[in-house]
Amino acid sequence: MKITLSEAQQLLMTGHVVGVPTETVYGLGASLSQPKAIEEIFRLKGRPANNPLIIHVATTERIEQFTGPLPDIEKLKGFWPGPMTLVLPIDPTKIPERVRAGLTTAAFRIPNHPITQKLLALTGPLVMPSANLSGRPSSTLPEHIEEDFGLDFPVIDGGPCLKGLESTILIQQHGQWKIIRQGALSPEQFESALGYLPEVVKKSKGENPICPGQLYRHYAPKAHLILRKEFSEGEKGIILGYSNRTYPKSYQVMVLGSLSHPESISENLYATLRELDQRGISEVFVDINFEPVGLLATIAERLQKAAHSD
Ligand code: TXA
Ligand code: MG
Repeated sequence: MKITLSEAQQLLMTGHVVGVPTETVYGLGASLSQPKAIEEIFRLKGRPANNPLIIHVATTERIEQFTGPLPDIEKLKGFWPGPMTLVLPIDPTKIPERVRAGLTTAAFRIPNHPITQKLLALTGPLVMPSANLSGRPSSTLPEHIEEDFGLDFPVIDGGPCLKGLESTILIQQHGQWKIIRQGALSPEQFESALGYLPEVVKKSKGENPICPGQLYRHYAPKAHLILRKEFSEGEKGIILGYSNRTYPKSYQVMVLGSLSHPESISENLYATLRELDQRGISEVFVDINFEPVGLLATIAERLQKAAHSD
């Protein structure tokens, strides 16, 4: 159910959860000062209690109220507002334990979407996980939220999300920023600001990831995704492929975007994964015959997770 900004403000300030657009993906928003609404987010999503939430704010000054002065983020400030999330040490008395899943750090983001910015100015900090049932593809349209949470679920309509992939999450370790979740900003984009290419920390077997969300299955439609690098003439099936490639005529192709313009792929990715289920498609081949660099590295990681082959 589409609602206005002031209806959303009203609902959020009285302890309800609302679907909120951002430039990355839609979020399920709850006010940081409404414990019942925060609880409701975990229930609605079926989210494990040990998976903390990102706190969305309007300014870095607001973050400093939770963390104290932030000298180490100077080089990264240019990426805000935008699709960057920073995990920072906090004063634990200032943030509910439920939000940070008992950690002594918390994740912060200043989103770059006019509606979200207006909303944050009215409501103060909002916690917002991606607006999908745990494990399912994120929502990049209001209709995706209605699909997962019902037609009566209140959503602010911000149209399609421009980025289409979640924010990139960084944490500082031993004086260096590291990426603990790949996202809409690639490591290469941080290189000139930081003076080094930030390492992408992947979970090794048997170890707990720094980013608890990496423990869980993600981005997966019901359809079975088969990752493929080659396609032969005469074989049948559906391919999730690219507009700048040709495939044998025997296949049907669903176009994700163009490999020469990776942004076009990220914009469409989750909507296409959801479309598979809407159309009752049970199996598709995914063309993963590309070099996973820049944004294509995030896209490859999401496709692997969606195919349960990470
Ligand atoms: O683009 C985005 O980041 C979207 C929009 C709505 O802002 N939000 C989003 O939230 O993707 P969510 O909850 O789906 O993913 C947040 C990730 C989880 O994997 C969680 O484990 C990690 O952030 N996280 C949150 N707090 C953390 C912390 N203190 N330390 C490490 N990881 C943390
Ligand atoms: Mg998520």
